Amino acid sequence: MDIGKQAFGQAPDGTPVALYTLTNANGLVAQISNYGGIVVSLTAPDRDGKFEDVVLGFDNVDGYVNHNLYFGAIVGRYANRIAAGRFTLDGVEYKLAQNDGDNHLHGGIRGFDKVVWEAEAVEGNDGVGLALTYLSADGEEAYPGNLSVKVVYTLTNDDALRIEYLATTDQATIVNLTNHSYFKLDGARSESILAHEVMINADRFTPIDETLIPTGELRSVKGTPMDFTQSTAIGDWIDQDDEQLRLGNGYDHNWVLNHGGGTLALAARVYEPVTGRAMEVHTTEPGMQFYTGSFLDGSATGKEGRVYNRRHALCLEAQHFPDSPNQPHFPSPILRPGETYRQTTVYSFSAQ
Ligand code: GLA
Repeated sequence: MDIGKQAFGQAPDGTPVALYTLTNANGLVAQISNYGGIVVSLTAPDRDGKFEDVVLGFDNVDGYVNHNLYFGAIVGRYANRIAAGRFTLDGVEYKLAQNDGDNHLHGGIRGFDKVVWEAEAVEGNDGVGLALTYLSADGEEAYPGNLSVKVVYTLTNDDALRIEYLATTDQATIVNLTNHSYFKLDGARSESILAHEVMINADRFTPIDETLIPTGELRSVKGTPMDFTQSTAIGDWIDQDDEQLRLGNGYDHNWVLNHGGGTLALAARVYEPVTGRAMEVHTTEPGMQFYTGSFLDGSATGKEGRVYNRRHALCLEAQHFPDSPNQPHFPSPILRPGETYRQTTVYSFSAQ
């Protein structure tokens, strides 16, 4: 077990940022930057024990500064979309940046993915970790309250990347934090994730309108291409003539996890048949955005000169449901003074 540190470039304001290299007892490596709390690389063994990087990313910080793809980043204060960038809390209306058409997306213009976090190495009893802290000032990106955020990444000795989030505030506010890693379990061996098999532990999802905002309905997945209750190859149904797939340009929806959130439970499993790599996602969150990289269009060249085209990778973002501040029947994203926001998500790797 080991943690190393190297320079990773500068944030736009000149602040130097670092890349931390975490190595667990079995040789898995996670590289994490304090710029955006970004998971830059993450290796896992295939069924022959060969390690490969299973996440998309850039070689240095400039790639992350210049693109809004959220590769590997911590997303906040509110991950996903808020309709028209507006919400009302305790009778006060807040107007957020409309950075996705009319909607607010992933915390705004300069969300948590684009700020520099304080970083500290931590040695856990089950692995090696990096603790990141950030104080989001009252009014930052127009959100109310000073929000004090801590995110602890631990690369555990049972081959998981555990992410624990904590936040407190001095005024009522909304919080929805996630990690936005793009996974590709066969590394650089293919051009898309269509052969990856996915199981999502959810009988319902939140259908969307043409701007990707939930309609408010919790709809059964039964008999639709959204049914991942049994492990299914992504390519099997993604091009079906289906209204929700058209609106999402593939899969870009929130699933309503069966456990309802609050306790750490299995949310999803991904299997890549060529390498035998498998990833399980456990989370305490009630929702999971499954996104198949429809906005990747070849304009981003990532690590090792690789061009990332449409459907090159998949995201499984543990979260509260999109637009929850405007949908009172969704689990509440409101955090008040004296309360602590907590979320834990664990991505575990194995090979079969
Ligand atoms: C999320 C959204 C997508 C897209 C990506 C970032 O997953 O649901 O629509 O905005 O982030 O490109």
